[in-house]
Amino acid sequence: MNPSSRGPERLEGVTAIILAAGVGSRMQSQVPKVLHQLLGRPMAGWVVAAASEAFAATSVVVLSPATAGLAELLGGGASIAEQPKPLGTADAVRCALAALPASAKELLIACGDTPLITAALMREVVAARRETNAPIALAAFDADDPTGYGRVIESSDGSAERVVEERDANEEQRAIGTVNAGLYAVDRAWLAEALGAITPSKASGELYLTDLIAAAHAAGTPAPIVYGPEIELEGVNDRHQFANVAAALRERINEGHLDRGVALIDPTTAWIDVQVEIAADAVIEPGVTLLGATSIGARTRVGSGSRIEATTIGDDCIIRSSAIEGSSIASHVDVGPFAHIRPGCTIASHCHVGNFAELKATSLAAGAKVGHHSYLGDTEVGERANIGAGTITANYDGVQKRKTIIGADAFTGVGTLIVAPAGIGIGAKTGAGTVVLADIPDGCTAVGVPARIIREA
Ligand code: UD1
Ligand code: MG
Repeated sequence: MNPSSRGPERLEGVTAIILAAGVGSRMQSQVPKVLHQLLGRPMAGWVVAAASEAFAATSVVVLSPATAGLAELLGGGASIAEQPKPLGTADAVRCALAALPASAKELLIACGDTPLITAALMREVVAARRETNAPIALAAFDADDPTGYGRVIESSDGSAERVVEERDANEEQRAIGTVNAGLYAVDRAWLAEALGAITPSKASGELYLTDLIAAAHAAGTPAPIVYGPEIELEGVNDRHQFANVAAALRERINEGHLDRGVALIDPTTAWIDVQVEIAADAVIEPGVTLLGATSIGARTRVGSGSRIEATTIGDDCIIRSSAIEGSSIASHVDVGPFAHIRPGCTIASHCHVGNFAELKATSLAAGAKVGHHSYLGDTEVGERANIGAGTITANYDGVQKRKTIIGADAFTGVGTLIVAPAGIGIGAKTGAGTVVLADIPDGCTAVGVPARIIREA
């Protein structure tokens, strides 16, 4: 799937409810399950994204006090309903009903822990219910390993008789490989009434949404089953499933980049967040991580081991095994190996940032070179300036951070130390080991500790 591609028109008249109030204790994590990040989105964010691709109406996401943080991560793309206590999936849906507009008559219910779900499958479940006129339809799949899922008991006519949760299943039922995907299309009026009749499970005390399936069957209007592929319906309850699902999302995203002409040398080891944009003919070497709002220009090569976050990189650059965050890099720039470009840097075209260079909130004008072993913080470097090996800007005096300005065509000798706010003028030079405490005027050469001018402009 190309995550940015537009599918068919969004379906009108259906409102999605996404359940994301559970704690997810099987993850063994301090962080609630649905908030875990997967390729640039929280887990439940993938389900919300699929629902907004499928349906025109705004989705309702059910959160608990523990998962309330998800609302901000979703960035206003959904309405929020609150489930005060995790009393089970039926209770979560009851809480969602209270937040639904009266106009929402047809619902799609999905779990926030099934991030591989697609818009197409959501619409298929809706279509199955519409075709049969049943009050509820559900999605199921044949699981490689059904452990943990509710088992679907089928009637002889192929509809669902009921769903038995694993905790309540006997040995014979546990041997059933057809499992409930947690994806349902439901008629709202019927749901509101049917929820009231659900009683707590004897095994867990929870109110199971899956009891609706038996209720529909008992009323003589059994639920049709839509069979989907396991790869779209796998639920994440533990770290093993999380890793599987992450790999599947990585593959989907990377397939999209390959389709658009990006040279991913090894798509199985390139981890690229869903927001990342990469131009055709860029080359992504094995073991690269691209995160957040990052974009990579045409013909740029990102070398193995690089980790690039929230950064724009132009065309025809070479990035070798480097870490780059929150910065902007123009075209024809050459970085690394082993450079660290920290947030707030702007690097103009034809610059060189070499090995073991660290830059922070620093701008390099076109053609500037920071070859080796340097630290530049809060620094402005002019065009074509050459920063010698081991040049350091001392930008922090323990209390305050100050700026350093290095002029165009300046040249710093090896091991120059510039104590901010001192700067170096246009075309000025320093000798090896110079400690600059006061501005070196344009065109002058300075040496020594502290720096003294040995040649005037
Ligand atoms: C559920 C289904 C099971 C199905 C499986 C598919 C029930 C009773 N069981 O089981 O038949 O095979 O999903 O993955 O529905 N949640 C709330 N509030 C709660 C409890 C859960 O919002 O009180 C949310 C969770 O955040 C999660 C989703 O509902 O996103 C499913 O809950 P989970 O505990 O994972 O249910 P499963 O045991 O996986
Ligand atoms: Mg689950």
